[in-house]
Amino acid sequence: MKIYLASSNIHKKKEISEILPEYTVLCPGDMNIEFNPEENGSSFTENALIKAKALWEIVNEPVLADDSGICVDALNGEPGIYSSRYGSTPAHKLSQEEQNCLLLEKMKGNPHRNCRFVCAMVLYLEKDRYYVIQETLEGTLAEKPIGKGGFGYDPLVFLPDLNKTVAQLTEEEKNNISHRGKALKILKKLLA
Ligand code: IMP
Repeated sequence: MKIYLASSNIHKKKEISEILPEYTVLCPGDMNIEFNPEENGSSFTENALIKAKALWEIVNEPVLADDSGICVDALNGEPGIYSSRYGSTPAHKLSQEEQNCLLLEKMKGNPHRNCRFVCAMVLYLEKDRYYVIQETLEGTLAEKPIGKGGFGYDPLVFLPDLNKTVAQLTEEEKNNISHRGKALKILKKLLA
């Protein structure tokens, strides 16, 4: 069975495909659809809904959208919904490595390092008929990047209970506890 994913992020597609192996996950690029809706919502949920609705209006089939990011308490929740474009301008997009450096720099010497990944997942079924799930993964911001796995800010998020950063987890370990993994487990029940 096919499910359309309103995202061009290959890492998200991979994680979602691993957690929903019974579905073929199709991104706009897989269908030669140019997809760049303006994410001008003020929350993860609003942005996920904007993306889901925009793709649903094109494919007219059930659509999944994920809007996610990292929120650091000491920075009033920054980067938050701006995680993918943190520190970037329309003319210059920072690489993920540069974004990680920027975040570490802003938090240098700050002992209050609580942070969390947030994932808002929308399953858009029909016009005005949709489900929203929002989940988190709590951690503390590391002092430097550690680990090679995962993507994005994973090397910066330390999980005290496991004594590892998210980038040091196997794919399976991450999917079991992550913000996206938890949201998808609930979604799986809805889809069933
Ligand atoms: P979005 O595509 O607008 O939802 O942006 C998501 C951004 O948040 C990504 O580009 C990453 O920088 C970050 N992000 C979301 N989920 C994760 C994760 O699981 N690990 C690390 N970074 C993540």
